[in-house]
Amino acid sequence: MRTDTGRIVHLADYRPTDFVLERVDLTFELDPTETKVEARLIFHRREGVDPAAPLVLDGDDLTMTSLLFDQIEMDPARYTALPESLEIRDLPESTPFEITVVTMINPEANTQLMGLYRSNGIYCTQCEAEGFRRITYFPDRPDVLAVYTINIIADKAANPLLLSNGNFLGGAGFGPDKHFAAWFDPHPKPSYLFALVAGDLGVVEDTFTTMTGREVALKIYVEHGKEPRAAYAMDALKRSMKWDEEVFGREYDLDIFMIVAVSNFNMGAMENKGLNIFNDKYVLADPETATDQDYANIEAIIAHEYFHNWTGNRITCRDWFQLCLKEGLTVYRDHEFSADMRSRPVKRIAEVRHLRSEQFPEDSGPLAHPVRPTKYREINNFYTTTVYEKGSEVTRMIATILGRDGFKKGMDLYFERHDGDASTVEDFVKCFEDATGADLNQFALWYHQAGTPQVTVSSVYDAAASTLSLSLEQMLPATPGQPNKEPMHIPLRFALIGDNGAELDASIVTGGKVTADVLHLTERSQTFVFSGISSRPVVSLNRGFSAPITLHFEQSEADLAHIARHDSDHFARWQAITDSALPVLTKAARAAQAGEPVAVSASLVDILLTVAADEELEPAFRAQALALPSESDIARELGGDNDPDAIHVGREAVLVALAKAGASVFAALYDRHAVTGAFSPDAASAGRRALRNAALTFLSIAEGDPKRAAEAYAAANNMTDLSQALSVLAHRFPEAKETAATLQAFEARFADNPLVLDKWFAIQATIPGAQTLEHVRSLMASPHYAAGNPNRVRSLIGSLAFSNPTGFHRKDGAAYSFFADQILDIDPRNPQLAARLLTALRSWRMLESSRADKARQALVTIERGPNLSTDVRDIVDRILKA
Ligand code: TRP
Ligand code: ZN
Repeated sequence: MRTDTGRIVHLADYRPTDFVLERVDLTFELDPTETKVEARLIFHRREGVDPAAPLVLDGDDLTMTSLLFDQIEMDPARYTALPESLEIRDLPESTPFEITVVTMINPEANTQLMGLYRSNGIYCTQCEAEGFRRITYFPDRPDVLAVYTINIIADKAANPLLLSNGNFLGGAGFGPDKHFAAWFDPHPKPSYLFALVAGDLGVVEDTFTTMTGREVALKIYVEHGKEPRAAYAMDALKRSMKWDEEVFGREYDLDIFMIVAVSNFNMGAMENKGLNIFNDKYVLADPETATDQDYANIEAIIAHEYFHNWTGNRITCRDWFQLCLKEGLTVYRDHEFSADMRSRPVKRIAEVRHLRSEQFPEDSGPLAHPVRPTKYREINNFYTTTVYEKGSEVTRMIATILGRDGFKKGMDLYFERHDGDASTVEDFVKCFEDATGADLNQFALWYHQAGTPQVTVSSVYDAAASTLSLSLEQMLPATPGQPNKEPMHIPLRFALIGDNGAELDASIVTGGKVTADVLHLTERSQTFVFSGISSRPVVSLNRGFSAPITLHFEQSEADLAHIARHDSDHFARWQAITDSALPVLTKAARAAQAGEPVAVSASLVDILLTVAADEELEPAFRAQALALPSESDIARELGGDNDPDAIHVGREAVLVALAKAGASVFAALYDRHAVTGAFSPDAASAGRRALRNAALTFLSIAEGDPKRAAEAYAAANNMTDLSQALSVLAHRFPEAKETAATLQAFEARFADNPLVLDKWFAIQATIPGAQTLEHVRSLMASPHYAAGNPNRVRSLIGSLAFSNPTGFHRKDGAAYSFFADQILDIDPRNPQLAARLLTALRSWRMLESSRADKARQALVTIERGPNLSTDVRDIVDRILKA
């Protein structure tokens, strides 16, 4: 493990390397514990660089066994080899030279899952962000692009498959038991996109013919026997390739595209050139084992990694501060892809829910940082929801401001101007300015100012003058290192909705810029006056969630109901329903905290049941409306002094009231939306399952009986229905005998499927209440649990910490100290995983004081832990400090 040096990296210190890398030839002699890596690197000194400057290469935990200079053993006086660097001195002033470095590495002992490691007997690599330096000494930074030739030598029986980036050059036997393969990637790339896979895997094959008629071989490698479960991923890949041609004009650029699924992986997937490596959770699916959510995730992540080929690989990042250049943009692209494949408004609702529950807390807490940060201590900790999801929202706002054509012109220019470059956010923004003539100077603040803007709105209708005045004020909250901020350019889609639901003409306006249906808020406070408005309209603002802000707009119940019924933007309808529900839920939480009875508004129940029963609305939309704001949504709305138990009690009271009032509606939905016939993962069928399972939950609450869920479990023919029924049993009837029996039956049925058992762990880890901690402890002793597998750890410990407010924040603080022990246990093995889990405590200051105090103690325990990794040190310091 890399020990913390306390070093901070600053954007302002960026400068190009002293030496230019011309070529890379790597030879791997694979062995589980002693892999030999020979790297032949050709460099020349960059023009104008001090002729005395040494070549300094990055390393991480490396052992060097040999070093040649132009094929001759190097004089030890000319170099210094340390585990974390190799410095070479007395190098030629301008002529190219060759360095041959041999390092020995141990894949089996690599528990960090960075660099070359083993996953279930498969050799695989993960090099982003700084994993390549764990393989060999190298200028391991994204602005060093080179052409790679790779030779792999390995035992033939154990590793029939030898894969790397680019095109296959050839292979042959190598001695009695070994063989070798050679790969060549003609596209210059940074080291973080290097990949190698070796082992024995099954394959699913297909082809794709590109827009210019080239045939590309597609291969998805999975464990033997799991090939049928890769069919959906293959289908998603082909649709992604087609979509990128049609919507962004981007064609694939090699003869082969490969995906390998592995079971030990730190994140979702990795876009290595021509050889994507995936967490198998995001490849494998069939009706019996995958939920509708799994299918949607696979589709989105396959697309995301594929789309990186242009946004990330062909055009990469100059330095890691520019991470959003590839990630924010690529998330935007995968969001648009999924919106086109599925229901656009339902997809948008899901995105916004996710943004609010993950990114908003990050942006309002101690870990808040700009989309384009200016300093980091550990780059792994900047693969955040701010860089990814807010980064995507910023891209979406550019599209909103410039319109579809302007956005397309800017993207086309970006691809044309920067293909083959390591670029910056400034380069990206400039393309949109140059392509359209727009001035995005103020807009660019979205990249640089952290924090979620708060926009307060009031409206006044003047009947005599036929005007509507809309006053808006933006407040930019202080964030770590950024006490004061400039006003931002906030594009707000809007409509003025008349009595009958018709949208009024809002083109005559003073006080600010309005283009089509977008109102541009650019000043701290601004009043827009619309003329010719002959009757009082209802204002629908931030439609489609055009800007990632928090809107404070006191609208009457009647106005919200009007939007919920009439807005042609279904996202806005859902938002209006949410805005009706939130005050009821916060009031309920406050009442519960004060020990008072909880009152539930009849009008909220009315809106929800009307929407639920409206067969003209998509089932998936109705399911989203019925999934009321979560406990953490309510906590965020309360804004401090939070008591998770009171929030839970208050929300439960609202659910019970809704369930009882709507019992007949839910019974009708449950019968009507049974999906018959062969299983299909399409969005419409998934939506019906979601609605029916929402109905199942409410019916079970109304009936107070596990019977219906037990029957639903018995009748289920797919994992969505199975896991939903199991969740209702476990979460609503944890003590029932049906629950214990069903949990056991599920475990027995899926005992040989770790990905399904992850659901079993997660369902149990999210049972509300203090007692769940003991249950989680006992599950850690289950033979299915594996502390070295990130998916297992996330589904058990992560689910408790991130998705079980009453379980994690139990009043006595026992779950916090358990959590601290877990972090300290995981950190030496896998710092990236430990640091990510630890962010579950980032909002500790929002808790009521006795819990906050206990959470702080747990953080201090972690802070005092021995030999903390840079990853955990960085997070714990920031969480405690701000
Ligand atoms: N670039 C990858 C993506 O966007 C994610 C990634 C970054 C990653 N660092 C990683 C994956 C480390 C695994 C491990 O999808
Ligand atoms: Zn990505």
